[in-house]
Order: sequence, then structure tokens, then C-alpha cells
Amino acid sequence: MPSLTTHPYRRAVYRLGMSMTPVGEAATTVRAITPGSHPSPETDHDWIVEAIGLVKTYATGQGEPDVPALRGVDFRVRRGEMVAIMGPSGCGKTTLLNCLAGIDAIDGGDVFINGTSLSRMDDATLTRYRAKSMGFVFQSFNLLPVLTAVENVEFPLLLTGAPPVEARGRARNALRDVDLSDREAHRPSRLSGGQQQRVAVARAIVASPAIVWADEPTGNLDSVSAGQLMALLRELNRTRGQTFLVVTHAREVGLQCDRIVHMKDGLILHEEITGVPSPIRSAPADPGRHSGSGN
Ligand SMILES: Nc1ncnc2c1ncn2[C@@H]1O[C@H](COP(=O)(O)OP(=O)(O)O)[C@@H](O)[C@H]1O
Ligand SMILES: [Mg+2]
Repeated sequence: MPSLTTHPYRRAVYRLGMSMTPVGEAATTVRAITPGSHPSPETDHDWIVEAIGLVKTYATGQGEPDVPALRGVDFRVRRGEMVAIMGPSGCGKTTLLNCLAGIDAIDGGDVFINGTSLSRMDDATLTRYRAKSMGFVFQSFNLLPVLTAVENVEFPLLLTGAPPVEARGRARNALRDVDLSDREAHRPSRLSGGQQQRVAVARAIVASPAIVWADEPTGNLDSVSAGQLMALLRELNRTRGQTFLVVTHAREVGLQCDRIVHMKDGLILHEEITGVPSPIRSAPADPGRHSGSGN
């Protein structure tokens, strides 16, 4: 069985640039980030994601100077929150996501998921943890072209050893949740970009993960499909209580989230609380037809 650590889902080739035009501003509250206001991971279980003093430096070799991609990032996300990360190309958004998800090794600081330090997990534990607790959506969809929609969605379950009949059932449920039940047998090439990304979202949520990371999920979509995708992500966040982190260039995407975190040059500069109502926290984490919360 292929290891998730070597699976192509882990490494997406990100194309920069947004196809969407920013629209009008909504009322938001801007909050400065105070360096040193460190979270307390052992005591505050409201935080599902915590980064403390996160440092990541890429060694380029061949005499070139190292690239300081993250320069001491403090960052926290509440359970059930939907947070956007915005900032210019190269400011470290993808690096932050990859470090928070334990995909990239960090060079300083620490990351806590549900209060557990990722740096204390060995690679195999981390891989299992990621498969169970995290879903990923990429700008370029990353669907396997030879598999049908339902086969793409069940694939991560099969990789982690789920019985095929169960995996198929859960994949069909996930496709229903993204409104693609009538496209189960279609290969990606026979789906529109928006539909392909919805298949990718179904694949990200099929294991009922606690956290979904989305890196420029609307970056390859037209504005109508982008709007539909964000409405879908918001709906999943509200009804399933899953935490979403969305990297985006598009302000209207950010405004769909509870909070926008602004990055520049490897640091978080400030955050905005948007006017979007908070998710319904009293709703069950995973209503009826899904099994397990994935926490
Ligand atoms: N594998 C890598 N090797 C060297 N430098 C990298 C690598 N990945 C990213 N970088 C550099 O780190 C910085 C942050 O990149 P990234 O996190 O991809 O930014 P963003 O997602 O905000 O566009 C950039 O200067 C980028 O060139
Ligand atoms: Mg990026």
C-alpha cells in the first residue's frame, strides 16, 4: 500500500495568480497581532490549531542565501472556525499551511493540533493522524485522471485500509454532500472545473476530518464556480462543524470566512473579523448520515 507521506496529494504544484476580481468591502474589524501574546496549548482546548513562534527557512544551497519563509508566526484557530489567510505571493501562506498540517518540517517554534505537539509525533504517527484528522483541497484539484469521481473520493479511505464496500458508501455520501451524486461515474476530464473541485472537496471531507486545509481552492475557477465553491465550504463548515483554513488571493473569498489573517514577508501582520455570523456551534459535529467526528 502506498504511504500517504509519499502520495502526490501531499505536494501540489501551485500556480500563482487569481482569476477573480476583488469586489466591494464589507464591514470588518481589524485587530493588530501582538508579538509574544503566546497561546497556552496545554490549558485552552478551544484552540484546534496553534502555532507558537513558527519558523521555517528553506535552504536553497549552491551559495544562494536561505529563504526565511516563516519568521516567528503565532497563530490560533478555534474549533469550528473558518479562517482565511491572505497576503502577496511568496509571503509564506502555503508554507504556513504545510507546517501547520505537519507536511513540512519546521525549524523553530511548535505546532499544536488539538493540544498535541506535532513535533512530538514520529513520521508514521503523524501520517496516520493527518489521514484521520485532516483533509486537503488544492488549487489544481489534484484528482487522479484515470479514476472516476467516486473512485477519487474513496481513494484516501482505501489507502488507510477501509473495507472497499464501506469506502464506496462513504464516498457516495460525500459526493451527495457536494451535490454531485449524478456524476459518480464520470472521470475528471468529463467534469467542469467547478465540479472537479467539488469532487476534491468530497475527497477532503470523506474521512470526516476535524480540519480542512484549502490552498487557493478557487484559484482555477471562474467567479461563478468560485462563489458556489465558497458557499459549499461555508455550508460544510456550518453543518458539520469542521474547521476550515483557506488560503486565498481573493478578498471576496476571505470575506466568506469568520476571520481574515493577513501575512507579509513570513509574518502575520494583522487580522480582520468579518461580518459573517459564526458557525452554528450547537449543531452536531457530524450529522446523522456520517460516522465519527474525526477528532
Ligand atoms: N521548496 C522551497 N524551496 C525554496 N524556497 C521555497 C520553497 N517553497 C517556498 N519557497 C519560498 O518561500 C517563500 C514563501 O513561499 P510560499 O509559502 O509558497 O508563499 P505563498 O504561498 O504565500 O505564495 C517564497 O519566497 C518562496 O519562494
Ligand atoms: Mg501559495
